[in-house]
Amino acid sequence: MPEYQSLYRKYRSQTFADLVGQDASSRALQGAITSGRVAHAYLFSGSRGTGKTSAARLLAKALNCTGRPRDSAEPCNKCQSCVEVIAGSALDLIEIDAASNRGIDEIRDLREKVNLSPALGPYKVYIIDEAHMLTEPAFNALLKTLEEPPAHVVFVLCTTDAQKIPLTVIGRCQQFVFRRHSEEQIISRLTHIAKSEKVQVEPEAMRLIARTAQGSMRDAVGLLDQLVPLASGPISLDGARSLLGIADPRLLDSLLDHVLAGQAAEALTELNRVYSEGAELRQVVRGLMEGCRDRLVASLTRHDQPTARRLSTVLDALLHLDGEVRRHAEPRLLVEATLARLAVEAGTDAPVLQEGSPPPEARSASGSPQGGEVKSPVPVSGWNEVLEKLNRTVRAAYLDAQPEVDGSVLVLWFRYGFHHKKAQEQSAQLMPHVRAWLGDDVKIDFRLRENDAAKSTPRPASPEDDPFVREIVRRFDGRVTRVKEVSE
Ligand SMILES: Nc1ncnc2c1ncn2[C@@H]1O[C@H](COP(=O)(O)OP(=O)(O)OP(=O)(O)O)[C@@H](O)[C@H]1O
Ligand SMILES: [Mg+2]
Ligand SMILES: [Zn+2]
Repeated sequence: MPEYQSLYRKYRSQTFADLVGQDASSRALQGAITSGRVAHAYLFSGSRGTGKTSAARLLAKALNCTGRPRDSAEPCNKCQSCVEVIAGSALDLIEIDAASNRGIDEIRDLREKVNLSPALGPYKVYIIDEAHMLTEPAFNALLKTLEEPPAHVVFVLCTTDAQKIPLTVIGRCQQFVFRRHSEEQIISRLTHIAKSEKVQVEPEAMRLIARTAQGSMRDAVGLLDQLVPLASGPISLDGARSLLGIADPRLLDSLLDHVLAGQAAEALTELNRVYSEGAELRQVVRGLMEGCRDRLVASLTRHDQPTARRLSTVLDALLHLDGEVRRHAEPRLLVEATLARLAVEAGTDAPVLQEGSPPPEARSASGSPQGGEVKSPVPVSGWNEVLEKLNRTVRAAYLDAQPEVDGSVLVLWFRYGFHHKKAQEQSAQLMPHVRAWLGDDVKIDFRLRENDAAKSTPRPASPEDDPFVREIVRRFDGRVTRVKEVSE
């Protein structure tokens, strides 16, 4: 019986035509290969599982291929060199995994051998994977080689974290950024693989896998790999869901409803149900995050700032939870405690969050002081010191702010819409000082005092200008593609 080969290895791109997405990088590399203008060092950066290592091997293979027509960059995959590269035994392709021992020995070795001629083909190609993990001495040693590279050497540094690569090294490399794959690209690749493997996958199940993979082709292929041996017969949506430990989104939606409506007990019961149906906690948290984000976007497009603010607090907590869940010894308790806390907190201003509640104009903004129930603010000492630390332009945005501290929330009240908006735009500068003052968990709530002037404050000119939308775009690394007016 042939040894089982995981799908993601079996379906590694062996030609440029087979490398999905990454069109700009692929075209530029092919141009360099056919014109013979290959750089001495490349930096392939970008999201994980998007083809960096595959492209680096393709480059190595094409450079040493003896069966390649002059006018094509595609390796023949038949000559001795190609066959050896595919088998992982080519002497002229040296792969260094910087993550394993931070590259110290390898880079030393590299410096000793880099001047030796290649064994078989014209080029010696070094692929340094996870290059951001190299230690400083390793980077320095590498830099010396990059300064005077022997003519027959090509370096390809691959990394998911280009920011950790020293600028001196980046400066010597030609950089290509590898993009996350779209759901369509993933679905089309999975369809191709499923067909070749003769397995049937329902389109809905395919879409679920594509969504779960979050832009990583490797993760998508890996998920399919998990499903194939387990499924007897066609892979259905429900089958995929339970095998992958993904909760039914309708259950998650109702869980989120309970949390936002302040119904802690119901939320915990619902969580229990989701859990007992086999959903994995991390997938639950991720599902809740997605639901929360969708609602946040909807509230932003209908300019419902109070709801948006509340949802962004919940989303923040979920993002934090997502990071904690995998480290925590008692992840289930952690999820329960967090959801219960969020529900209890929401209980205090639940009406703001319920569907079908009156439009925001009819309510106070986030419970701003109204009528007789003005809370006397907690005196705040320390705020002036924070202001002192800001530079002049930034400080100007906060001079109008009246601070209140409410648990781990710093509430900043503004009288003018202009300052309210400016202050939120500058919050990245403010935040470190507020954290140093009130602790790492602190949140800032920017509120506008409601009076006649504030009510007539014009809406932001376009949704993209809205500081909240900008924040969301930043956080999800996205862009606004469509604006839909939702009737209030
Ligand atoms: N662009 C792509 N086209 C087709 N398959 C891909 C692509 N990117 C990744 N894959 C699939 O994922 C597997 C792993 O890809 P690869 O090792 O090239 O990713 P990577 O970007 O180097 O990931 P990492 O950042 O984790 O090192 C491949 O063997 C292939 O099955
Ligand atoms: Mg890689
Ligand atoms: Zn070849």
